[in-house]
Amino acid sequence: SDPDLVARARAAKAALGDRVFVLGHHYQRDEVIDFADVTGDSFKLAREAAARPDAEFIVFCGVHFMAESADILTGPDQKVVLPDLAAGCSMADMARLAQVEDAWDALADAGVVDSVVPVTYMNSSADIKAFCGRNGGVVCTSSNAEVALEWAFEQKPDAKVLFFPDQHLGRNTAVLKMGLALDDCVVWNPLRPNGGLTPQQLRDAKMILWKGHCSVHGRFSPEVVDELRATIPGINILVHPECQHEVVLKADLVGSTEFIIQTIEAAAPGSSWAIGTELNLVKRLANAHPDKNIVFLDKTVCYCSTMNRIDLPHFVWAMESLVAGTVPNQITVDAETEKWALVALERMLALPG
Ligand code: 13P
Ligand code: SF4
Repeated sequence: SDPDLVARARAAKAALGDRVFVLGHHYQRDEVIDFADVTGDSFKLAREAAARPDAEFIVFCGVHFMAESADILTGPDQKVVLPDLAAGCSMADMARLAQVEDAWDALADAGVVDSVVPVTYMNSSADIKAFCGRNGGVVCTSSNAEVALEWAFEQKPDAKVLFFPDQHLGRNTAVLKMGLALDDCVVWNPLRPNGGLTPQQLRDAKMILWKGHCSVHGRFSPEVVDELRATIPGINILVHPECQHEVVLKADLVGSTEFIIQTIEAAAPGSSWAIGTELNLVKRLANAHPDKNIVFLDKTVCYCSTMNRIDLPHFVWAMESLVAGTVPNQITVDAETEKWALVALERMLALPG
């Protein structure tokens, strides 16, 4: 990194002292992660944001939905800053509130809406989390999707789950952790009339999966898993649950970014690992563990382009603006949305485990 920018970031952080708390998602660049007070997966960062009531500013080095969740979970006088407003998440953009309401109406028309529990992945906008809060549902992350689904299926007799926006996390959790059959899951395509499903299909399904995905994790293929197993004897395949079902089926271990890190930290020296998640994290793990053979589960470079938008220049600009007395790129959620999104987030935070 540019030494001048590093020095400026250090100076701004020192000038702000305890007034600022910097959160860094594991997919952030090294140059940014170096300045994080805490790093974590989505769940840990949500909890950390809620646990810092004394910080005047939370600088969120991550993507928009994470900063929104932090605003919902922090006090009214705390300000959440996202160093680049263009740091969104293409998966979160795949489910819009009006589309989710259309799906809800179709479930009502099919006569089953009273047994449906909506579950949204953290990777969604605040208004969608609010929809879940209002309609008896919950938020989940990749680290608690199983307990969240267990909770959802216990809420009503013959419960069905409408899960959005990530079909892969939903399917992988339902089939591989909860023991549902693949046939129990149907995919709702928001771009087609009635989701591309008949009312009978909606009545028969236990899991209605939104047709959304992560473009980064969607790149990992089962063929590369086979190739790596053939070329590196004893290799362990460790992937994020946003990967396609066919990839997760072939993996040895699956879990959130925090789980991936803990697994590598606990791994035996000399062991071999192929990791299917964003490249900044995989490279950082490979550098931190030279005694282990760590490779990326793809043949091409694959960063999350929106996570990468938070770079050192943006971070320095945000921090120096705070020092100068202006709050740049503040993320705020309106009071009504916040009220109901908080209901869904607090249900998640109260889940066992
Ligand atoms: P984690 O909750 O595992 O950190 O995942 C967040 C994310 O956006 C993965 O693509
Ligand atoms: Fe969104 Fe995928 Fe990037 Fe995660 S890795 S922030 S799901 S686009």
